[in-house]
Formats: sequence, C-alpha cells, structure tokens
Amino acid sequence: MKNQNALLIVFALASATALAACAQEPDTAARKTPATMPAMALETETSAAAALPLVVVSKSPSCGCCGRWVEHMRAAGFELEVHNMDNMSPVKERVGVPPGKGSCHTAEVAGYFIEGHVPAEDVKRLLAERPDARGLVVAGMVMGSPGMEMPGGRVQPYRVELVAKDGSTTVYARHGD
Ligand code: CU
Ligand code: CU
Repeated sequence: MKNQNALLIVFALASATALAACAQEPDTAARKTPATMPAMALETETSAAAALPLVVVSKSPSCGCCGRWVEHMRAAGFELEVHNMDNMSPVKERVGVPPGKGSCHTAEVAGYFIEGHVPAEDVKRLLAERPDARGLVVAGMVMGSPGMEMPGGRVQPYRVELVAKDGSTTVYARHGD
C-alpha cells in the first residue's frame, strides 16, 4: 500500500512536471509510466512464484509428522504433490538415501532428494546454491524439527546433512543449538 501511494505521488509529480515542461519534452515519456509500472510488478510476482520448483513427497498415509512437514513447506511458499504409500524403501533406494540416514518421508525437488524433517530454509538454500549432490537429510525423527514441533517450542539440536554423489555426508546446517 505504502509503495503504491509513493508511486502515485511520483507519477502525479512527474505528470505535473511533464505538463509544465511540455514545450521541451514529448509527453510520451510521462504516458508510458502508468502502463509499464503494473506490468513490471506482475512480472516480478510471477518469477518469484516460479522460482520455487514443485516438491514431490512420498510418505506413509498414516504419518502425522509427515503431513505437518508438508504444511511447513507450503507455509514457506512451496507447492507440494503428495504420494501416499505403505512401503517407502523403493523410493529411498531409488533416490539414494544412504543406509542409516533414513527418516519417515522422502521428497524430491529439482533433481535432489530431501529426506526427513529438513527445514524449508535449507531447501531454499540448496536450490539457490545447487551443489553437485544427491540431496539433504535429517536422519531419524528429531524432536523440534519442522513437523515435529514440541509443546513449548523445545528443539533437540540437530544437523542437516548434504549427501554427496558418492553417498558421503557433510554438515549443511545446524539447528537448535
Ligand atoms: Cu516424521
Ligand atoms: Cu515424515
């Protein structure tokens, strides 16, 4: 609202100036302003929405914390497609979750896997940095991670790990400490 008002004021001033100076300046410049402004704003909104690719989630139909992670991602602006399945092992094997690093749900986005309760901010960072890797993992089920919120907001310190193409892991982000 504030910006719009500011733009209107700027435009009003520009028009007044253009009218006053119409002898020297062609008024086409002033006329262009109202037409191009909304178009530019629309373009920005569209590209911001398109900047987040679709997240495809595989999860067990009865998993409550998986559903809450999906809501966490949606709240962060992601669009998610959810597939319920009873046996998650084939998905985890296909995307290459290392043994012992598994969690409840497995998501796939832009060629990466996101295993478990990884915060949306770390997924966004992954998509911005685009490292040569398989994906991100929060192994197990960490109390206080997104989708596993505790009453009182307590967080058990945990690590998000980056899984390299060879399956080795390095710490990507630290939370709760
Ligand atoms: Cu879970
Ligand atoms: Cu889950």
